Amino acid sequence: MKDLYCVILAAGLGTRMKSSLAKVLHPVAGRPMLMYTLDNVLALKPVKTAVVVGHQADKVKALLPPGVVPAFQKEQKGTAHAASVGLGRLGAGGARGANKGATGGAGDTLLLVSGDTPLLGHETLKGLISYHKQKKADITVLTAYLDDPAGYGRIVREDGIVKRIVEQKDATPSEREIGEINSGTYCFDIASLKKALSEVRSENAQGEFYLTDVIEIVQKNGGKVAGFPVDDPMVAMGVNSRTELAMAEKEIRKKINQRLMNSGVTMTDPESTYISAEVKIGPDTIIHPGNHITGSTSIGPGCLLMAGNIISGSVIGGGVKVKGYSVIEDSRISERAEVGPFAHLRPGSVVGAEARVGNFVELKKAEIGQGTKASHLTYLGDAVIGRNVNIGAGTITCNYDGFSKFKTVIGDDVFVGSDTQFIAPVNIGNGALIAAGSTITKDVPDNALALSRAPQMNRENWAKENRNRKIKKKS
Ligand code: UD1
Ligand code: CA
Repeated sequence: MKDLYCVILAAGLGTRMKSSLAKVLHPVAGRPMLMYTLDNVLALKPVKTAVVVGHQADKVKALLPPGVVPAFQKEQKGTAHAASVGLGRLGAGGARGANKGATGGAGDTLLLVSGDTPLLGHETLKGLISYHKQKKADITVLTAYLDDPAGYGRIVREDGIVKRIVEQKDATPSEREIGEINSGTYCFDIASLKKALSEVRSENAQGEFYLTDVIEIVQKNGGKVAGFPVDDPMVAMGVNSRTELAMAEKEIRKKINQRLMNSGVTMTDPESTYISAEVKIGPDTIIHPGNHITGSTSIGPGCLLMAGNIISGSVIGGGVKVKGYSVIEDSRISERAEVGPFAHLRPGSVVGAEARVGNFVELKKAEIGQGTKASHLTYLGDAVIGRNVNIGAGTITCNYDGFSKFKTVIGDDVFVGSDTQFIAPVNIGNGALIAAGSTITKDVPDNALALSRAPQMNRENWAKENRNRKIKKKS
C-alpha cells in the first residue's frame, strides 16, 4: 500500500506477565507473540515498517525480517514516547514524506499497532485503514465493546464523536462503566500526529507519555478523530497477563485446527489437539486426542496419529501410523512406517519406509532402513541399520563407555536375536545372524553366525532333589 507506514510497539517490559522474558517474545501456539502482528502488518505491504524495541532488544531484533527496521527506545517512557521513537526511524515516512503526497500535508498514513495484540488479523487492519481514509480523519482508533473492559483505556464519546481516551487508572467511576475500549491500534495522519506528539505531557496516574492523549490534542488543533469498532471484540484483545496469554493461545489454536480441518485433516477432538502455527499436515491424516505437534513439523497425507503423541521438529511421510503415547523429536519417518505405542525417537533418528519401531523402543541418532523392525524393548543409539533387519526384543547398542560415544553399523537382512548387546564400535555384515543373548564385541562378517553366550548344561532331577532337601531341613 503506497503512503502507508507502520510502527509496531514492542519495547515494553510486560510487567504484568511477571516474567524474565519480554512479553512480545512469549510464544503463542509456538510462535513469539510479536510475529503475528508482524505478519499482519507486512501483509498490507507498507512502504516502511519500524518496530520499537527496548526490553531485550537484541532478542526482539533477531525476529525482524529483512526490511523491517528496529527503533531503539532506551527508556520506556510510555506509548507516546515509543510512537515518536518509531516515527523517527521511518525517515521519509515522517514529516518530509507527509508533505510530498498528492493530497498535500495529509498524504501519508501511519498504522500503529501494539506488539501484544496477536489476535488482530490483517483484514481488520485493512478495514481500519479504508475507514480512516474514507472519513478523511487525522486519527482513527480501532475500538471494541467488551463485557469486561477492565484494564483497557476507555473511549469517551460525546454526541457519538470520540473525544478522548481515558486510561483505567485515571478514569472516574462513571468512565470505568464505559464498555468501549481502545485496542491500542490506530491510523494517523503523520503530520498531525507529529505535531500532537510534541504536546503530550506525562501528568497522569502512571507518569508516562500516553499516546492516547493525542486524541484530545489533535481535536484541539482542529483535526478530526474517528472510532472504528471491530465486530468480534476478541480480535482486539491485548495480552498483558498469563491468563490473557492462555486466552490468546486457545483462540489461535482454534484457528490453526480449523484451517487444517478445512484442508482435509480429521481431528476427533480439536479441543484437545495442540498444533503449533508452523506445522504442516497432509489431507486424510487422522489425529486423535492429546497430540502435541510443534516446531517445523510436517506430516504427510493419510497418516494416523493415535492418542497422546508429542511430536516436534520432525518430518513424517505419508501413510505413517504413530500408535499412542510416543515422543518424536527432530526425527524423520518415511512412508508407511509404524511407530509406537510408547516409542521414543530422540533427535537425529531416521526411520525408513515400512519400518517398524515398536513399544518401549528408544532411538537416538539411529538410522533404520526400509522394512526393518525393532518391535520391543530396545535401545538403538548412534547406529546405522540396513534394510529388512529384524532387531529382537531387548537389543541394546552399548554406545557409551563413560567418556565417548561409538557407532554400531548393521548391514541389510541381518537377524538379531533377542537380548543382544552390541558393544560399539562394531560392524555387522549383510545377512548375518546374531544368536539370542549374545554380547557382540567383534565385527561379524557377511552371512556369518555370531554366538557368544555360555554353553547350556542341564542336570537331570537337580531341581526336584534340591526342593526335597530344603523341605526336609525346614521340618
Ligand atoms: C495501552 C493503551 C490503552 C489500550 C491498551 C490496549 C496507552 C496509554 N494505553 O495500554 O488505552 O486500551 O493499550 O491493549 O497507550 N510500549 C513501548 N514503549 C513504552 C510503553 C509501551 O514500546 O514506553 C509497548 C508495549 O511493549 C506494548 C504496547 O506498547 O506492546 C502497549 O503497552 P502496554 O503497557 O501494554 O499498554 P496498556 O497498558 O495495555
Ligand atoms: Ca497492552
